[in-house]
Amino acid sequence: GQKQSGRQFVVAIDQGTTSTRAIIFDRNGRVVNSEQIEHRQIFPRPGWVEHDAAEIWRNARRVTAAAMASAQLTTANIVACGITNQRETTVVWDRATGTPVHNAIVWQDTRTAELCERLADGQGPDRYRSRTGLPLSTYFAGPKLLWLLENVDGLRERAEAGELCFGTMDSWLAWNMTGGVNGGLHITDVTNASRTMLMDLQTLDWDPEICADFGIPMSMLPEIRSSSEVYGHLTSPGVPEGVPLAGILGDQQAATFGQACLAPGHAKNTYGTGNFLLLNTGTEPVFSDHGLLTTVCYRIGDAPACYALEGSIAVTGSLVQWLRDNIGLISSAAEIEELATSVDDNGGAYIVPAFSGLFAPRWRPDARGVIIGLTRFINRGHLARAALEASAFQTREVIEAMEADSGVALTTLKVDGGMVVNDLLMQFQADLLGVPVVRPVVNETTALGAAYAAGLAVGYWLGADDIYANWAEDKRWHPHMPDEERARLYAEWNRAVEHSLDLA
Ligand code: G3P
Repeated sequence: GQKQSGRQFVVAIDQGTTSTRAIIFDRNGRVVNSEQIEHRQIFPRPGWVEHDAAEIWRNARRVTAAAMASAQLTTANIVACGITNQRETTVVWDRATGTPVHNAIVWQDTRTAELCERLADGQGPDRYRSRTGLPLSTYFAGPKLLWLLENVDGLRERAEAGELCFGTMDSWLAWNMTGGVNGGLHITDVTNASRTMLMDLQTLDWDPEICADFGIPMSMLPEIRSSSEVYGHLTSPGVPEGVPLAGILGDQQAATFGQACLAPGHAKNTYGTGNFLLLNTGTEPVFSDHGLLTTVCYRIGDAPACYALEGSIAVTGSLVQWLRDNIGLISSAAEIEELATSVDDNGGAYIVPAFSGLFAPRWRPDARGVIIGLTRFINRGHLARAALEASAFQTREVIEAMEADSGVALTTLKVDGGMVVNDLLMQFQADLLGVPVVRPVVNETTALGAAYAAGLAVGYWLGADDIYANWAEDKRWHPHMPDEERARLYAEWNRAVEHSLDLA
């Protein structure tokens, strides 16, 4: 039951790929109120994806103010604020004016494919893997920052003169929320920094050699802080004045934290625009031989950092949005399930949504999307079904990689994110993996993780026990599919993936 002591809450701002939300949590980790605003997706050319950072900051202020106002809360009710964000999305702004010098380049954007080859310098995509945990890929922030320095007029000179700040969306919001041009904090946390390719996973500091190889002036980089500490206080119009800013986590790490994956071996899979499976590996980074990333999972204050193995899938939920916005197959995302349920199976159709190339475990920026297996028999229902199944097939690929790297077999899969309301998908996921899939009561795990990080720093929650105690199971899907059927479907999926690579 509810046991609010006084009326004290934590607010988390979740700056995602498609929208910005403010969610207010109580001590039980339950949602008290939330507000959300979508922002524009800007597609200037095939493969390019941009956001307007100024629009996102406006939205962050608006949702925070609105969430507090409609719950009739004032600054006095808020003990701490946390930020969680779409990771890798890169923005550069002018320190003196606060104006972004260019649209933010979104994590899905593939414009840096050639630049990444150049950075490999004949040593292959794993040139920096032992230091950063990452392959050279269009996905990460460092190459996006370099693209801006090389392609926006006068930017390099201004950067070298110390006039510019680089940040991922956490840095951009933190700077603006703590005063902006009037002394805003230029910070990021270890989890976001671990997605730049510029941070050394062991020292948890910027790697001067990599920055030199890339040609990135270190003066534009934010200070790397832990994921949970009082960084400073909010002091901008529209944000709750004087509240400690006390938690920052990249959204997938935040969801891992919010799912109470706080010990080695704990894992979660989030179904958002993309899918992101993270396995907590404890205080030592584990390097992957099977196409996964090594990343910082979280660092709470001065405690040692915890690391994770991650399987990142670029396109899952955004395939449903594409079917709605670009193709008109459905008029709302929710319709996809009804349409998919109108048929018994995929009818032999497979969609490989390689819109940003393929991420884990293949890392092929040159792959392109395909729909295969079309016959006169295939109808809208089969395509809807194939779209949902694509999330589950891609998830199986990263889980196989995870099991191969860790030597540990998955026994259940904890899930969260927008798509997990979809019963057909969750059942198919359990069937395809042959293990149960489990959804928690509070599905807002991303914002919750950031709230926990902020609340821990101010003593609102005391430690892991509080987080474990707040986690509760909502629903569980058990596998029913016969083994032969599972094997046949997965083999057909793999053939479809080969076609998407053939187009390269
Ligand atoms: O790495 C990209 C990831 O952080 C994006 O998450 O939830 O905004 O799709 P989401």
